[in-house]
Amino acid sequence: MKDITLDMRRCLTMEADRGLTREMMEALAPRLDAALRAVQEAAGTGMLGWVELPFADPAPFLEFAAEVQGRYDTVLVIGIGGSALGTICLANALLPFHFNQLSREDRKGRPRLYVLDNIDPEETAALLALLDLRETLVNVVSKSGSTGESMAAYLIVKERLEAAVGAARLREHLVFTTDPEKGALRSIGRALGLRMFDLPPGVGGRFSVLSSVGLVPAALTGMDVPSLLAGARHMAGRMASSSGWDNPAAAFAGVHYLEDAVLGRRISVIMPYAARLRDLADWYRQLWAESLGKAYDRQGRQVNYGPLPVRALGATDQHSQLQLYMEGPDDKVFTFVGVAEFACDLPIPAPGPEGEALAYLGGHTLAELFWAEQRSTAWALAKAGRPSLTITLPRVDAYWLGALLYMLEMATAVAGELYDVDAYDQPGVEAGKKATYALMGRPGYEALAQEID
Ligand code: PA5
Repeated sequence: MKDITLDMRRCLTMEADRGLTREMMEALAPRLDAALRAVQEAAGTGMLGWVELPFADPAPFLEFAAEVQGRYDTVLVIGIGGSALGTICLANALLPFHFNQLSREDRKGRPRLYVLDNIDPEETAALLALLDLRETLVNVVSKSGSTGESMAAYLIVKERLEAAVGAARLREHLVFTTDPEKGALRSIGRALGLRMFDLPPGVGGRFSVLSSVGLVPAALTGMDVPSLLAGARHMAGRMASSSGWDNPAAAFAGVHYLEDAVLGRRISVIMPYAARLRDLADWYRQLWAESLGKAYDRQGRQVNYGPLPVRALGATDQHSQLQLYMEGPDDKVFTFVGVAEFACDLPIPAPGPEGEALAYLGGHTLAELFWAEQRSTAWALAKAGRPSLTITLPRVDAYWLGALLYMLEMATAVAGELYDVDAYDQPGVEAGKKATYALMGRPGYEALAQEID
């Protein structure tokens, strides 16, 4: 298999009144082209800086990683939302399984990677108790440089770092990734004389995985950053050389848009059949939800759009959510994300005479069983009149992951055009942040605090 494929057949074979028809697709085709063109023509402007990230030079990240190689046993990323989910996705997909549990030797000297993306005190305390901060590099990531959760975690970690290594050596253990000019983190970093990486102003949190946000931790832990970007560039090339329904990102967006707007299927379930892609589903959930869930369209009309993303994992969730998917409300479109090849496979041994009932499994492999489960789930859903898309990657590696991330970002941007919403703002998130500032007594938010009380 030479490229990522998107198979839409199980959206087209539904009953006439519940499936996509050629007429619907043909009617949308001009808008799909226009949406794709709008994204491509605006590349690099406004908040579309992400479109050009694959073409940026990763040398600063790689050089930094080379410079500090061997110095730390752990990298701790502090961030939340778009400042964490991309890194978590990369780590699960590209680092060896159970990487943090491996010995330093088995990790080939590469540091362990933890991401602190929540503020549960018990979890935070437990993680800090586990880490030897004298051997830890802390990467604080925040585009705004002011998000309460990340800033609180930073303050706690900084205090402990100071206690562990002394104020004079703090600089060796802290690196910030933030806006080049704005925000508290930038000024703190300047005051402390820290190493800082810029998050380009035109790149929003949820579109930042291929920027310094994802690439600094990736480089530090030895992921193949050049291949990640090369894969994304490859997908950018496909984006430029195909249009309408032939373009995988536009087709993904178009199917979801029609399923929602015309057929009333508002929920987008993403279900990888590869454990390495488990956290891709989380990353996608944020990308789709924050980009498309909007009260107003770009004309200022109240629309309250919100195609709801749901994450699932094959085959685990066949035994959890599938019953609902098969027989519950017909309001979902499914995306299976499979792989053509696993890095390794395990033969299933033939059972002894005592296990005759399991004989059908013996002689197959786990990959064969996995693929059979993916196909049978898609088939059974289609039989029940539930549409699905299937994305297949040649394999999970840095190159194809970069391509997939870019494709899903482009699909989200195209969907934003179809819904005519601003896919790059997040007023709902900001409102929550402001309310937290108010409740925590931040100056300037007194009136809001009173309103909440
Ligand atoms: O995608 C987004 O914009 C948000 O999810 C942010 O990433 C999240 O709120 C964290 O913000 P910041 O990076 O400014 O700390």
